[in-house]
Amino acid sequence: MPGVDYYADLLRDRRRIDAFLQAITAVVRPGDHVLDVGSGLGTFARAAARAGARRVTAIEADPTAAALARELGLERDFGGRIRLLEGDVERVALDEPADLVIFEDFGRFAWHPNLRRILETMRGRLARPGARFLPEQVDLFAAPTDKPLPSVDADPALPFSPEALTLLRKRHLSLPRPEGVVAAELVATGIRVGDLRPADGQPPRKIYAGSVQAVRTGTVTGLAVWMRLRLTGALTLDNDPSLEPTAWKQMILPFQIPLPVQPGESAAMSVEVSHGPGPLSELWRWRLEVP
Ligand SMILES: C[S@@+](CC[C@H](N)C(=O)[O-])C[C@H]1O[C@@H](n2cnc3c(N)ncnc32)[C@H](O)[C@@H]1O
Repeated sequence: MPGVDYYADLLRDRRRIDAFLQAITAVVRPGDHVLDVGSGLGTFARAAARAGARRVTAIEADPTAAALARELGLERDFGGRIRLLEGDVERVALDEPADLVIFEDFGRFAWHPNLRRILETMRGRLARPGARFLPEQVDLFAAPTDKPLPSVDADPALPFSPEALTLLRKRHLSLPRPEGVVAAELVATGIRVGDLRPADGQPPRKIYAGSVQAVRTGTVTGLAVWMRLRLTGALTLDNDPSLEPTAWKQMILPFQIPLPVQPGESAAMSVEVSHGPGPLSELWRWRLEVP
């Protein structure tokens, strides 16, 4: 679980905070019951109360953050209009469904192991039908990168066989890697490959795809992926590698076999996600094809 430093760092990330504060001021209506899911210190819950929400429910699973939020006066300030429920959003119950849900924990590319279930819980059990979500939409982007990826090299000093190290490397490169990427590490300009709307259910299988053209020579080590949160109207916040970094970095979907590309070469890029019925039955596949 993160500590106080993590939450203090989030408060210093002003590009992210300011965008959310501006969006919250714009979307909160006076009669609203607002839900702040993953409320941390309660920054967004406080902003919703300040913007005039009738009541605000903050939900936070991390006991350290919940205790600190209480100590900082989350339930005392704003005339008691904010209530904090400590626990996993999938297990809390509300006495009144929410009109507006604020949720920002989309990982780096609208993916982390619990995201789909959290979205279903918010939509199906905690929000009223037709409730608004902030962000309204998450746009997903991808581009091939040649950023070198750390790997374990066959080294006789290590007490593993070369086969075991090859297997480890293969396992390592079969998973999405949280990784910061800068624009100079992209071999082609990033494109939007799809979107996700928190208010809508997700199909069991989704393919994010598009075509890119290499702008320079490179040996592609994976697909760099990132997202743009459409907070409300034209107000957006994203972790595009060409922008000043926020607390969110990017993610790399690594290739086991690097792929050399030449400037001007086109490539078809796709990221596929399929969900099965069980909580862990989620499959991700990604590819880059140069004709
Ligand atoms: C990126 S932090 C954001 C905190 C806060 N919104 C802010 O801006 O400071 C995400 C928060 O979501 C909480 N969280 C993650 N999964 C959760 C879950 N399933 N139920 C409740 N809280 C959760 C984490 O503990 C963390 O505090």
